[in-house]
Amino acid sequence: MVNIAILGCGTVGSGVFEIINTNQEIVNFKAGKELKIKYVLDLRDFPGSPIQDVLVRDINTIVEDPEVEVVVEAMGGVEPAYTYVKSALLAGKSVCTSNKELVAKHGAELLRIAAEHNRNFLFEASVGGGIPIIRPLNQHLTADKICEITGILNGTTNYILTKMYKEGLDFNTVLKEAQDLGYAEKDPTADIEGFDACRKIAILASLANGKSVDFEDVYTEGITKITDIDFKYADKMGRSIKLLGKCKLEDDGIVVSVSPRLLAPEHPLFHVSGVVNGVLVRGNVVGDLVFIGSGAGKLPTASAIVSDVVDAVRHLNVTTTIQWEEEKLEVLDFSKSKKQFFVRVLGQDKNKVESAFGNVTYVDAGIQNELGFITESMSENSYEEKAAKLDGIITRIRVEA
Ligand code: HSE
Repeated sequence: MVNIAILGCGTVGSGVFEIINTNQEIVNFKAGKELKIKYVLDLRDFPGSPIQDVLVRDINTIVEDPEVEVVVEAMGGVEPAYTYVKSALLAGKSVCTSNKELVAKHGAELLRIAAEHNRNFLFEASVGGGIPIIRPLNQHLTADKICEITGILNGTTNYILTKMYKEGLDFNTVLKEAQDLGYAEKDPTADIEGFDACRKIAILASLANGKSVDFEDVYTEGITKITDIDFKYADKMGRSIKLLGKCKLEDDGIVVSVSPRLLAPEHPLFHVSGVVNGVLVRGNVVGDLVFIGSGAGKLPTASAIVSDVVDAVRHLNVTTTIQWEEEKLEVLDFSKSKKQFFVRVLGQDKNKVESAFGNVTYVDAGIQNELGFITESMSENSYEEKAAKLDGIITRIRVEA
């Protein structure tokens, strides 16, 4: 028998509790051992639930119990999760987590500590919810140079953008609806400003390159400036707008970013709609692989955590290598990366547009007193220089190649 402790019994933690109990037979079979949840750490009470029988308040009860071999961290946030996870690893327990803030900030260090103790630090659920993406990157795509990872990595923003695309609604109306339905948090900042996707693409970029991509080096732009008018233009272009996390190997280095992009129907992620997540991985020999599925939610996320628990139980005293060193990976300055831009500008003066931007392609969405156009491919820096010469720019959205 293997004893497990769950730290935090909110949505994800209670999902882990549920799966280990309801799918007991299959999970035990896959693990090759019987799993028992010995403790759940939470400050709340769970009257009438079996959780109450194993509830503890003090992390030391878990850390100091030698019978606990695997700890599930489902608290979220960096602290106290970091302190708890580190002490569990130092005490010789494997840890499985869904916590992208923790993994993005301390992943490499926690992996090292786990390896020093012949234990495992696993985080399949931290990116893409129920989609297997960490294990494929780490264990399966080992023959390839990863040239690109492009992901729809946040369910909340994909839900909002999909609704705007399909129903022509404005951002605030859809956000309110998403909050009422429980898809978006009361404080949606981390999702709509792209911070959540930023941590997730930093984790994927670190795994793809074996060194630490600091999430603070990731250019991050959310979806709060996207309007229903932008979608009218997108529609005329036959495109949609998606928030994409991108890690791309360019001529001079790796560029990592999060930003809204205009996506063509041929793109493998174009049809990834609603709360669903999708990740495109481009390897230099395997070509394109696409992973699509539930990127958030109680059971999909808990499913990924339990798959890590099974992995940890299969490897109780041996570390399954995850190549991610603490050494920092210097990423290329985003301002040097090139792409086309869609621009909206007040007025109807094409001469002014062309004297600032040169050759452009106009898009007529029937909007009064403004022009919409697509530039030629240029660096972010070059775009900024040209944009400074043109008064009245309303917005600009990057065009995904
Ligand atoms: N808030 C996140 C999302 C949850 O909307 O995708 C999963 O990380």
